[in-house]
Amino acid sequence: MSALTLEVRGLRVSYGDEEIFSNEEFRLEGPGLVVVMGPNGAGKTTLFKALLGLITVKGKVLINGEDVTGRPERAGKLIGYVPQWKGEDYGFPVSVREIVESAIALRRRPPRLSFPKDERERIESALRRMGVDDIAGKPLSELSGGQRQRVFIARALVWDPSILIMDEPLTAVDPMGRVDLVRMIKEMSSSKLVMVSSHDPSMFLDRAKLIMVVNRGIVALGPPDQVIKEELLSKVYGRSVFIVEKCVHVVDGYAI
Ligand SMILES: Nc1ncnc2c1ncn2[C@@H]1O[C@H](COP(=O)(O)OP(=O)(O)O)[C@@H](O)[C@H]1O
Ligand SMILES: [Mg+2]
Repeated sequence: MSALTLEVRGLRVSYGDEEIFSNEEFRLEGPGLVVVMGPNGAGKTTLFKALLGLITVKGKVLINGEDVTGRPERAGKLIGYVPQWKGEDYGFPVSVREIVESAIALRRRPPRLSFPKDERERIESALRRMGVDDIAGKPLSELSGGQRQRVFIARALVWDPSILIMDEPLTAVDPMGRVDLVRMIKEMSSSKLVMVSSHDPSMFLDRAKLIMVVNRGIVALGPPDQVIKEELLSKVYGRSVFIVEKCVHVVDGYAI
């Protein structure tokens, strides 16, 4: 397999006067699972958007040595992206298949309604891979949270990217759906570099190759046994974090 690297050099990201990342450097090698953790507002989504070229940054983003900085068209083909779900409703009926088709259709000039055989096969195989082929005709609005996430992962897999970024994929997914999703995400990390963010990463830790802790900057990046330490995490999460038998738990707000 060819080299699979995602590298950031001197990355700076600001919103107006507010600097979120200043001069970050890291190099990730796949395949494997990289868990990005940090409290709400830490900058996890911002980091992903920066990697994907969806916001303006200073510094460089390189994939397999290729400079993709500020090139969302190119980065978007090399990196599959499952955005954070903010509870949005499309407000118009859209089917599972149409969501997956949009990975190709939105890149093309009109007319976009028909697909050549190879593209049709990409779409159908992504639907099968995530086990949503049997509900491909259903409207998105009728799906459970877990099914919905699987549809958006299928969409991200259409170009068979070697890197997959998933932003808080467990949000709005029920416990059984979470177990299925986590299993699928772990499986994918055996052949892809998978970055997954979560404000509570406990379900991913047993398989994580690296943990990246974000809190207005990257405050730690390393294997779980080096990063999952109460001292470090309590600096980031305050009293919402506790570690029991090497398992980290994050509660929303201090409650216990
Ligand atoms: N488009 C934007 N314009 C201005 N500020 C933003 C924008 N997006 C995010 N922010 C701010 O940047 C910080 C990091 O946000 P975000 O990356 O969404 O964090 P996280 O994903 O870790 O919850 C937050 O303070 C947020 O309010
Ligand atoms: Mg976010």
